[in-house]
Amino acid sequence: MGKSYTIAVLPGDGTGPEVVREGLKVLKAASKRYGFSLQLTSFDFGGERYLKTGEILPAGAVEELRKFNAIFLGAIGHPDVKPGILEKGLLLNLRFELDQYINLRPVKLYPGVETPIKDKGPAEIDYTVIRENSGDVYAGIGGIMMKGSPHEVAEQTMVYTRYQVERCIRYAFEYTRTHGKKARGLSDVNTLALVGKTNVLTYVFDLWERVFHEVGAKDYPEVKRDYYHVDATCMWMIKNPEWFDILVTANMFGDIITDLGAITQGGMGIAAGGNINPGGVSMFEPIGGSAPKYTGMNVINPLAAIASASMMMDTLGEREAAKGIEDAVMYITQHKVKNLGAGKMGYSTSEVGDMVADRVASA
Ligand code: IPM
Ligand code: MN
Repeated sequence: MGKSYTIAVLPGDGTGPEVVREGLKVLKAASKRYGFSLQLTSFDFGGERYLKTGEILPAGAVEELRKFNAIFLGAIGHPDVKPGILEKGLLLNLRFELDQYINLRPVKLYPGVETPIKDKGPAEIDYTVIRENSGDVYAGIGGIMMKGSPHEVAEQTMVYTRYQVERCIRYAFEYTRTHGKKARGLSDVNTLALVGKTNVLTYVFDLWERVFHEVGAKDYPEVKRDYYHVDATCMWMIKNPEWFDILVTANMFGDIITDLGAITQGGMGIAAGGNINPGGVSMFEPIGGSAPKYTGMNVINPLAAIASASMMMDTLGEREAAKGIEDAVMYITQHKVKNLGAGKMGYSTSEVGDMVADRVASA
């Protein structure tokens, strides 16, 4: 008998429920094919609930969510709720409260998917960004003084503790060992590159750089270490993405470069991410948002949600099932869904889910 996993399902707003439904359909096929079982519990957190009750996360919700093996999230964002409220109250709140200190964002161009980068294909665009997810300017240290007056002052501080940096760096080395290009048979070395700004942010990235080399030299000597400034990284993500294997960076830089990465892999319809607490409960989400104008039309692309379901199974230790789902997604991008845009796929949301689920079951 295979293992059983408890999953909290947060469909959320807009097209979230539609893509989550397809993700669950594919997970169900994978559970049969690979011999594990899932116990699903749904929660209605999101914009609708907030508008009705004035409450974003009810009391006890975090404690409740902490009991699950993983969280599968659709999308957060509602046209009638002011920007920032749900993002901070739900998404960032859960990341912080559940101490999901890693944001894992693969940048992988699947076969058949169009990239805006000329002359690059799946062989070149295939790397992962590990974004630190608990510190930096996201920690909310700062304030505003004399607001509205000519003398007003606003400050928001980039802050990192050694503890935060070290746990992220260690996760990144471990991940490089298991998921780097050597581990995947694509190179004779696994490489982890630190992305920073040591030439200007001489305090924060001095800390990052020292921890990176100390931990690497002592505990991961077989992993090759590189360093790139974040501005140059943006350039190379377009010009030479094949140089990259695993990248690790701070929260704000990671937020920015992963949108750039997402567009090089075909955009928000395909980009998946995981908010990881390696010792606790992790949360997986398509990074595309709630796309309110397509809500309920059965036209949105579910592949990003399906790919995040694959990441969830990988993190839970079901690597074969994870690979089976990802291979099925790649089969569909190569042979079926040529255009990833909402309403342009040539198939409905549920048809795409059916095709991936069938492929998982039969491959
Ligand atoms: C992301 C998003 C969030 C972030 C927003 C919605 C708070 O942009 O997941 O990348 O900045 O982390
Ligand atoms: Mn972002």
